[in-house]
Parts: sequence; C-alpha cells; structure tokens
Amino acid sequence: MQKVRASEKFYYLFPQSVAIIGVGRNLMPVAWHTPISSKPPLYGALISPKRHTYELLLQENGFTVNFLTHDHANTIAKLGSTSGREIDKIRDLKIPVHRAPQVNGMIMSDSYGAYECQKFALNEYGDHFLLVGRIISVHVAEEVMQEKEIIDERRVRPALYFGKDRYLTIDPATLSIHKK
Ligand SMILES: Cc1cc2nc3c(=O)[nH]c(=O)nc-3n(C[C@H](O)[C@H](O)[C@H](O)COP(=O)(O)O)c2cc1C
Repeated sequence: MQKVRASEKFYYLFPQSVAIIGVGRNLMPVAWHTPISSKPPLYGALISPKRHTYELLLQENGFTVNFLTHDHANTIAKLGSTSGREIDKIRDLKIPVHRAPQVNGMIMSDSYGAYECQKFALNEYGDHFLLVGRIISVHVAEEVMQEKEIIDERRVRPALYFGKDRYLTIDPATLSIHKK
C-alpha cells in the first residue's frame, strides 16, 4: 500500500450511515452506530458527553433510532449543528414527528425505519459513551421492504456521511449478489 500521511480522522476513510437518536423531545444525528446483538436485539450508538442528548440519556430509560434517506441530508445537518440545550429543534426546524408508543422519544415521520429502545447500558470508551439499547419495537415503511425482511435497494436511498459535511447515497446499479 502507498505510504499515506497520518491522520487523526481515521473515521473519514469510509462512509457511515446516519441514524437520528431521539430522547424526550430532542433529536441528534449519529454516524457512529451499530447492531450489537440479535438475541437479545441490542443496538448501540456512540454519544459524546458534550451533547445535550447525553444529559437526557442520564434521565431517561428509553430512546428512538431513526433512519432517513439522502433527501433529508439538510435536516440531518441542521439537527447536527444545533443543540437541544439552546433550541427546541422539532419546533424550530419544523421536523415532522410523532411520539413513540412505548418509550419517551420521537419517531421521525419521514424516517423509512425506526427502533424503539429501552436503555440497556451507557459506558465510557475514550471520549464517547457507548449507549446500548434493547430494541423493543421496529417500525418500517412497508413500501421499502422486499420479501424476506430485507430492504429493497431500488426504493431507499439511505443518507450516508462521508465527513466534513458531505453526504452521499447508494447506487443500486452496483448491486452484486455473491452466494456463500
Ligand atoms: C452526520 C453527523 C454525524 C454525527 N455523529 C455523531 C456521533 O456519532 N456521536 C456524537 O456524539 N455526535 C455526533 N454528531 C454531532 C451531534 O449530532 C451534534 O453535536 C448535535 O448538535 C448534538 O445535539 P444535542 O446537543 O441536541 O444532543 C454528528 C453530527 C452529524 C452532522
């Protein structure tokens, strides 16, 4: 491999999908998030203690995880450059939401998928806390699903983050299937 210059931004080497964490009335985008376990169903996101969301998570027992398409990149950028400490993002940015039925968090009406999670753990790793939630409910827009519970790549253009305020999405023409 070519020798490249050292960079602290190791996470800009690859795109990350974006999820929006909803706690109480607040919404915050995360690029650092991942499934953790299927049984029990656990989902994780890394939250800096500087975020208002972190303070809310200390008080609440649940949260939502929302997935948006690339058309909503501007909303993601706005949610990620403002703090619930200063403004009511949902009101001021006019974000369509409805209350999650089972946890104290909002489901974004424009999301193509969302989880309701019970807080399972919140542990410190370096400069972030790993928030782990047990998924108690999954909401998916029916029109984006194929059979076998997989998303139809022709019907969803997920928002991907490439660092430095750059967003992109998938090209379904690149789909290739390799049987095991
Ligand atoms: C695309 C994107 C991804 C982000 N990913 C993370 C992340 O994984 N963890 C984190 O702590 N902050 C992340 N942020 C920053 C927070 O979203 C941002 O600081 C936000 O304003 C915090 O809102 P709050 O203070 O209302 O919680 C990200 C921001 C953007 C725009």
